[in-house]
Amino acid sequence: MPQIKVNNHSFSNYDSVLLNHIHLNLNVDFKRKELSGKAVLSIENKTACRYLILDIKSLVIDKILLEDSFETAWSLGEEYNHFGQALVIEIGKNTEKVAVYYKTSPSAEALMWLEPEQTFGKKHPFLFTQSQAILARTWVPCMDAPAVRMTYSADITCDPQYLALMSAENNFEKNAEGRYHFEMPQPIPSYLMALAVGDLSFKSLGVNCGVFAEPEMLEKAAYEFSDLSAMISSAEALYGPYAWGRYDVLLLPPSFPFGGMENPRLTFATPTIIAGDKSLVSLIAHELAHSWSGNLVTNKTWNDFWLNEGFTVYFEERIMESIYGKDYADMLSKLSLDEMQKSLESLMLTAPGDTKLKLNLNARNPDDGVTDIAYVKGCMFLRYLESQVGRKAWDAFLNQYFNHFKWKTVDTETFIAYLNKELLSKYPKKQFNVMEWIYEIGVPANLPKIQSKYLLKVENMASEYNQTRKLKSIDTAQFTTHHWLHLLRNLNADSIQSTMSELDTTFGFSKSTNAEIQCDWYVLAIKNNYEVAYPYLEKYLSTVGRRKFLEPLYFNLSKTEEGLIRAKKWYEKYKNSYHAVSRNTIEELLYNDPISNK
Ligand code: BES
Ligand code: ZN
Repeated sequence: MPQIKVNNHSFSNYDSVLLNHIHLNLNVDFKRKELSGKAVLSIENKTACRYLILDIKSLVIDKILLEDSFETAWSLGEEYNHFGQALVIEIGKNTEKVAVYYKTSPSAEALMWLEPEQTFGKKHPFLFTQSQAILARTWVPCMDAPAVRMTYSADITCDPQYLALMSAENNFEKNAEGRYHFEMPQPIPSYLMALAVGDLSFKSLGVNCGVFAEPEMLEKAAYEFSDLSAMISSAEALYGPYAWGRYDVLLLPPSFPFGGMENPRLTFATPTIIAGDKSLVSLIAHELAHSWSGNLVTNKTWNDFWLNEGFTVYFEERIMESIYGKDYADMLSKLSLDEMQKSLESLMLTAPGDTKLKLNLNARNPDDGVTDIAYVKGCMFLRYLESQVGRKAWDAFLNQYFNHFKWKTVDTETFIAYLNKELLSKYPKKQFNVMEWIYEIGVPANLPKIQSKYLLKVENMASEYNQTRKLKSIDTAQFTTHHWLHLLRNLNADSIQSTMSELDTTFGFSKSTNAEIQCDWYVLAIKNNYEVAYPYLEKYLSTVGRRKFLEPLYFNLSKTEEGLIRAKKWYEKYKNSYHAVSRNTIEELLYNDPISNK
């Protein structure tokens, strides 16, 4: 057995063996909660290596064939917490095809198998995957590092009542045999492989876009996402042609742990953005923007994650500005900047190193890097550059960047060299503190300012209310979701205990059906021990699986002894509706014992 090392969160020997294509042939078994079949890997053994090393985690390997004909020897490396283990396969100098016969385990973290009651329709089970960052290896044996791009294809069979979808081309029509064929002809990193199976229907929203959802949610989703086609046009006008053919959105059941996931051709999205008034659709702009930043130009390692997310937040804001105008976009940017400042303050106390754009996550779970730093500090750095060179030059540079690095992977250092050569060197008299932005903790003093005239008004109302606690300070006539959020975030949590009930009866916060507003209100309720809200909070925790909401709620509950008891009780009761990545985060909060280390 060769020596096995972890390189950028992967055991695989991608420097020695090229992985060009994976063909999956899998059956979806809802009863056993199992995918089984084979993955056929097309490789080029460019260094005449004796072994192909792949990443796997909790997969059961049955046998491995070379060139579709003879079995070869294989062995497993030691399990190493969240990385899983190496699958070491003996190959020949000229081996081109390696077929791994396997099945997944019920604990596979990428797979979420939902019971009918966890769906909107309540009648059928549902399966979805979440591969980013290093969970693809729990359902496909692969080189699970973003530096490796490959094409893929798949034959999926499932109960013919259901539709199977992947982040790939297919004709998405149900068929009587429950057989679906998929092709992803463009090379993608493993974290963008995705599959969903369930009772799904489709509605077109334009020539190359549409939405999939359970039938119960389809019309609502179609209404909420009706600007999709305009978003695609505005994105293309900004940074060049959309490279992936169709762009569809799959609206998932509420257990989905993220807001959205940019699976190519098919963004996966949480239903918590269906507010009924299109107020939360910037999330779709975000996932769409990843079609350029992330999917076309990919971060080489998870330490360079800000290249994916910072660019995407910047791009998302530009799409929002072009469709809804500058004032609206400023309001959204200001809200995320405020949230980032809060994360920054707490990270500076607990993990200051994690406030750098370039991270060092090598021995850690890449999930630790998913903070507002990569997203919002990353975006603010790009806004800073824009402010220095002007929008025209900056946009020309970004267009050139996406075009130059398309279908490639980029690390921070490559980006810096390219930025200096192609843009900053043209301004010899100017000083740019690029290195400080990227390699130092905190935020530089030249952090751009964002002002929102709408939110300024809300701040004034909040501060008057904080002083007087008189409802007439708050005029909600023009309020959108964002005004409400800003109001809740600017109320002084320590001084409103006696007026929680009055706020609630006047504005109906506890009974709100807007997941963003609910989350912020329930945080205030917990801080003030406002028990009237608890039944609503419990209901919310029993259905919503989005980590961004669960985390602050469980965190604030866990701050008091009584709250912690309650939090543990609720968590144990509802954890089956939470995906592994959410469970991981909450168990760390409640038990200091994340499941990934067990
Ligand atoms: N790619 C991310 C989600 C992700 C990141 C999953 C890292 C696993 C590891 C996605 O594009 C994203 O950023 N989603 C955000 C929404 C966005 C509007 C900030 C989310 O889920 O909250
Ligand atoms: Zn993102």
